[in-house]
Amino acid sequence: MFFDSHAHYEDRRFDEDRFSLLDSFKENGIDYIVNIGTNLETSKKSIELANKYDFIYATAAFYPDEVLSLTEEDFFKLEKLCENEKIVAIGEIGLDYHYDDVPKEKQIYWFERQMKLANKLDLPVVIHMRDSTKDTLDILKSNKVKGGVMHCFSGSVETAKNVLELGYYISFSGTVTFRNAKNLAEVAKIVPDDRLFIETDCPYLSPEPYRGKRNSSLNLIHTASVLANLRNTSVEHIADITRNNAKTFYNIK
Ligand code: NI
Repeated sequence: MFFDSHAHYEDRRFDEDRFSLLDSFKENGIDYIVNIGTNLETSKKSIELANKYDFIYATAAFYPDEVLSLTEEDFFKLEKLCENEKIVAIGEIGLDYHYDDVPKEKQIYWFERQMKLANKLDLPVVIHMRDSTKDTLDILKSNKVKGGVMHCFSGSVETAKNVLELGYYISFSGTVTFRNAKNLAEVAKIVPDDRLFIETDCPYLSPEPYRGKRNSSLNLIHTASVLANLRNTSVEHIADITRNNAKTFYNIK
């Protein structure tokens, strides 16, 4: 039924029950998962999970928070990791200006390097954008890639329109179910069927009614049901279109 387009099952919050949880997914309507890398270690672990489970795919990248002391040697190791056949995208990459522990210039430099790598490898990108709309969109405009998704979208309707104009997909996480997410509800109404993604970003961002608890793909149903209400359609339709979109985007046969 569902395609969880963005998850972090290598996270230590899954250490206790990772494999029993993943083993339970097929019978609970979770058809595909893309496990997202944030540095060399989590990218490697994502590949390990993808090699163990046929329904899991992986991405590799340096998250904006992880580039402070990045070296050329690290970047070369990333490129090598991307040769793995279960790597389906470069991500998550982008700009995060929420905290100021990594200088903007450094984030921008490595973001662009990874955009160019994605283009070279003919892979799509998974974008993380937080408090950095203008700079992020400028870089997306000037760096052509095969395709891209704005993960855990949290911007305005106007930003969403700009993102759609660039040809990017928009992905909704559990945050769309939050009662104070009025703007996001408006965005959820305007994203065309063929550009919509759904994700958990687990273990983070549990949807209502589990806000604050550890998240997993089993909670996608709650996010889908809020999206279905906002878009006047059924949960089944949301599941179908988001699964098909993600399969096309990640080039999964
Ligand atoms: Ni994430």
